[in-house]
Amino acid sequence: MRLLVCGGAGFIGSNFVRQRVDEHGDEVVVLDKLTYAGRRENLAGVAHTFVHGAIEDPDQVAGAIEGVQAVVNFAAETHVDRSIAAPDAFVRTHAQGTYVLLEAARAAGVRYLQVSTDEVYGSIAEGSFTETSPLAPSSPYSATKAGADLLVSSYFHTFDLPTLICRGSNNYGPYQYPEKLIPLMVLNAIHGDRLPVYGDGMQVRNWLFVEDFARAIGHVLAHGRPGEAYNVGGPDECANLDVVRRIIELTGGAESLIEYVADRPGHDRRYSLGSEKVGALGWAARVGFGEGLERTVAWYRDNAPWWEPIRSGDYRAYYERQYGRALGAGGVSGS
Ligand code: NAD
Ligand code: DAU
Repeated sequence: MRLLVCGGAGFIGSNFVRQRVDEHGDEVVVLDKLTYAGRRENLAGVAHTFVHGAIEDPDQVAGAIEGVQAVVNFAAETHVDRSIAAPDAFVRTHAQGTYVLLEAARAAGVRYLQVSTDEVYGSIAEGSFTETSPLAPSSPYSATKAGADLLVSSYFHTFDLPTLICRGSNNYGPYQYPEKLIPLMVLNAIHGDRLPVYGDGMQVRNWLFVEDFARAIGHVLAHGRPGEAYNVGGPDECANLDVVRRIIELTGGAESLIEYVADRPGHDRRYSLGSEKVGALGWAARVGFGEGLERTVAWYRDNAPWWEPIRSGDYRAYYERQYGRALGAGGVSGS
């Protein structure tokens, strides 16, 4: 199959492209704007055609979509903290970008899969969200993702475009940009930098290994029913503080590196997805959190050439703005 994968140079997109090429022999065209989170290095060694462009640019999209059988859209601004600091790019990419892609898929008459998130449902104290739970997003990130989901569904209802939506829970694994909890804590622990825990650290996330999510997306693309949304939740949930403690154990860091910092505004307390619907299509997670976290820590430890340019580049300024301290300053070495 020939696929257009938008946002394929990011974390989940690059894992998906690698899986499709290596395990399914697909031909893949990657369209990616290469924001701070998109990197050609993420696709090193993976055969693909690369188009440097934005999903909100109709001309770039029209060129990239030629001859493909399906579009899978990962392209997004994905960090909740950045959506609080500067929401404009989130609105542009999620609203205008999704619209441009849907129009192009409609003109080409091809299947369209939107990669979405559990965050569109908001927070849940107990139990798990199903696909019929109301959308109640909390942040500019999740609100614009929810808007994109609604636009996707409208193209099914109004134009008969064969659309699918895959809503994943928190992903982790190789190639994740170190602004997100797990890679940030792993790299900080390795370097003896402080480990900034928001609020009381008791927020709960439903962890999903990236290869499992990538496989679910391929599975839904092949077997999903047009017009439907599918939740893809991880097998395990864990409070942030426990995640950080497990990382400290795996890296040999010091517990005294933990630093409680101001909470994220509007912070969702708990996410949880029921995956029965995608399970009925034949998908199940293969990697539990214990194994996945060990593999992730080992990957970051073994791939310094991947993260060194990030930690020595613009990321330093981001980090200082976000955490009010320079990276590499104020660590508690060896204590
Ligand atoms: P990421 O930030 O690592 O990658 C996003 C990619 O999209 C980057 O390559 C970036 O350059 C590209 N991009 C951004 N704006 C673009 C634009 N306007 N045009 C073209 N390319 C653009 O993100 P990720 O964590 O891999 O997430 C991928 C998708 O999965 C997103 O839609 C996200 O909402 C969703 N998702 C993420 C998670 C998670 O835990 N990371 C969980 C569920 C769903
Ligand atoms: O749930 C799926 C979502 O998971 C995706 O849609 C988003 O794109 C992705 O960024 C992620 O969102 P979260 O906000 O859950 O992930 P993040 O890694 O930013 O934070 C995870 C938890 O850890 C959250 O409760 C906030 C907390 N946290 C995060 C950072 C970066 C900290 O305590 N300290 C930190 O420094």
